[in-house]
Amino acid sequence: MLQNPGVAITGSGSAAPATALDNQALSCLVETSDEWISSRTGIRQRHLAAAAESLSALATLAAKGALAMAGITPADVDLIILATSTADDLFGSACEIQAQLGATKAVAFDMTAACSGFVFGLVTAAQYIRTGVYQNVLLIGADLLSRWVNWEDRQTCVLFGDGAGAVVLQGNERDRLLGFELKSDGTQNQCLKLAYKAQPKQLIEGVDVGQGTYQPITMNGKEVYRFAVQLVPEVIDKALFRANISVEQVDWLLMHQANQRILDAVAERLNIPNHKVISNLAHYGNTSAASIPLALDEAVRQGQIQPDDIIAACGFGAGLTWGAAIFHWGR
Ligand code: ACO
Repeated sequence: MLQNPGVAITGSGSAAPATALDNQALSCLVETSDEWISSRTGIRQRHLAAAAESLSALATLAAKGALAMAGITPADVDLIILATSTADDLFGSACEIQAQLGATKAVAFDMTAACSGFVFGLVTAAQYIRTGVYQNVLLIGADLLSRWVNWEDRQTCVLFGDGAGAVVLQGNERDRLLGFELKSDGTQNQCLKLAYKAQPKQLIEGVDVGQGTYQPITMNGKEVYRFAVQLVPEVIDKALFRANISVEQVDWLLMHQANQRILDAVAERLNIPNHKVISNLAHYGNTSAASIPLALDEAVRQGQIQPDDIIAACGFGAGLTWGAAIFHWGR
């Protein structure tokens, strides 16, 4: 066991379903237009998983890419954390991924923090490494929100898409995770919901249970927008302060890919120029817990993000939850 090792993020991978639906095609389904969607959100298309596809298969594909980049095998993995709100199984899908990978030594569990899941998972993974308990952690952010969207509700169905992204975190002599800050505010929970609706089912006289189903996503778009634009710059600032890093030193602003207008507004408030803002939401829409690792992986593979670059990652979403982590890319 390493003594108080540092944390490094050494590999990334991603995957999206093959089928893409562009705004034009979506406008056959609900009363909307490419002009409305792209001007208000920056989204041009989203990838959608077919009924035969599964979250765990997509997540496994992303995980394989991350392991290969990190240069380790499934057998090396000590811990798998799956950040998701849309597991194939309410009991969790991380163990299914462990089995598909053949990561026989790894312990695996799901964690849910909606669109903040990846950043919350990153910080969680880092604790296991810093305490010297585990050396190799696979963190996956994956969501199939298409399964939980009301495809007749134009206010929400235009926003979301499916995808998966993964990273490998490893114990490292140099600590590359420089600082973080996580927040929750349950008083604002109503703003964004994918809620279970129970119907009373009487078992015997005087004893009933609540049986029902999850209801499609509901969102107060204006409130979520306000929340993001106000609190995201604050939490990034706080994480930068903890990391002892100035905003000028940040090479890449890597935010949850919810809406281009949110990315632009946050970057402007932080005084971060546009060329440092990573954005791929035009192609994927909002993929919830997958959006940050998916965008990270694309930027790494396209050679935008280079080893040693300083990344300010920030997730925000339902809960409400939000959080930022500042790290160097690579060992
Ligand atoms: N196509 C065409 N018209 C639409 C659509 C659509 N898809 N959706 C709504 N409209 C109409 C509305 O009915 C309304 O019409 P009206 O003026 O006749 O009543 C008009 O467009 C304006 O609607 P608003 O809801 O006020 O639109 P707004 O400018 O607030 O934009 C949006 C909506 C894009 C959702 C915005 O509120 C936003 O960006 N919110 C942030 C929320 C977000 O990004 N959520 C993602 C999930 S949360 C997360 O990941 C953190």
